[in-house]
Amino acid sequence: MSKANQTIKTVLKEPTLESIVDYIKEKNVKKVIVMSGAGISTAAGIPDFRSKDTGLYHNLQKFDLPYAEAVFDIDYFMEKPEPFYALAKEIYPGQFLPTKTHYFIRLLQEKGMLLRNFTQNIDTLERLTGLDQDYIIEAHGSFASASCTECKEKADSDMVRDHALRGKVPKCESCDGFIKPDITFFGENLPKRFYDNLSDFDDADLLIVLGTSLQVQPFASLIDEVPKSVPRLLINKEMVGVQKSKGSGFDFKSKKGVHKDVYFSGTCDEGVTKLAELLGWDKELNKMYEKGTEKLKSQYVKEETEIEPGQQKEDKEVDQLADVLDKLTAEDSSTPKTT
Ligand code: APR
Repeated sequence: MSKANQTIKTVLKEPTLESIVDYIKEKNVKKVIVMSGAGISTAAGIPDFRSKDTGLYHNLQKFDLPYAEAVFDIDYFMEKPEPFYALAKEIYPGQFLPTKTHYFIRLLQEKGMLLRNFTQNIDTLERLTGLDQDYIIEAHGSFASASCTECKEKADSDMVRDHALRGKVPKCESCDGFIKPDITFFGENLPKRFYDNLSDFDDADLLIVLGTSLQVQPFASLIDEVPKSVPRLLINKEMVGVQKSKGSGFDFKSKKGVHKDVYFSGTCDEGVTKLAELLGWDKELNKMYEKGTEKLKSQYVKEETEIEPGQQKEDKEVDQLADVLDKLTAEDSSTPKTT
């Protein structure tokens, strides 16, 4: 379990992005674990959950929920699935494109430096960058598939998306139960793949935490699972995950010359752009981001010609980007590799 009682050796000259880059070069870092949350997708237009005024939990008053997170509570869903599906309509994949931060994670894979990306996000944007699914652990599941909450039968993803984009609740053809995307709700176990890959943290030589409030367990406590001598970089708009008890959580106040936790205060895109510049990767990152975005847009624009007469253009746009998503995720899921 947690490495709290290990002795900490000084690993960074000082708690700065520059010292993280020196460490990456000097130690020839090859096993980076990235832990990510909703903050990496806000630049794509998907609200996060807890930000004041803009977070999804702030904008759920109209559903008259007993408490905001009820929208992702399995018991509440079984009683009233409507609020979830009204929310799903706003954030359903096929309407958004990966951000520069998503492509930074892909770039780490290209450079043979990514060990794993543990993401809390359900938007599947990681897959759209072309990141090999072997590297992605969707700790809270995703919209990529769906199943019946009663008989557990897999549901047709086109049918589920079609219902969701119209804010309707899809029902199982076999037993009439409510269908739910395979997202981990509060009260449900995380996917097996999450637990099967926890040993990665023993092997990591750098931890990068991006765009998360670190409020939800068991994901949040993973930051303490890397060996004590492994540096940890948090890129987030607000400082989170700070030491609650001795030896657990981040310690950004450098004392006794022991530096291993670094906090970059700003947006994820700002942070990864600065990191890429310091590493000399900025041109590659910009090229990957621009080409990736262009490819996704052109793939779905190419199908523009197939707009059925009279079909609403915006519906068609959503369907087309969703088709691109299906093709890309289908390619990935056709060869799921187990580690
Ligand atoms: N750049 C950097 N940080 C950002 C940005 C951005 N562009 N946008 C938002 N943030 C920060 C916020 O300040 C906040 O600290 O990202 C964090 C997002 O926190 P949450 O909204 O709580 O999202 P997340 O941490 O992913 O939530 C975890 O909670 O509701 C459950 O299952 C759900 O997976 C989700 C989990």
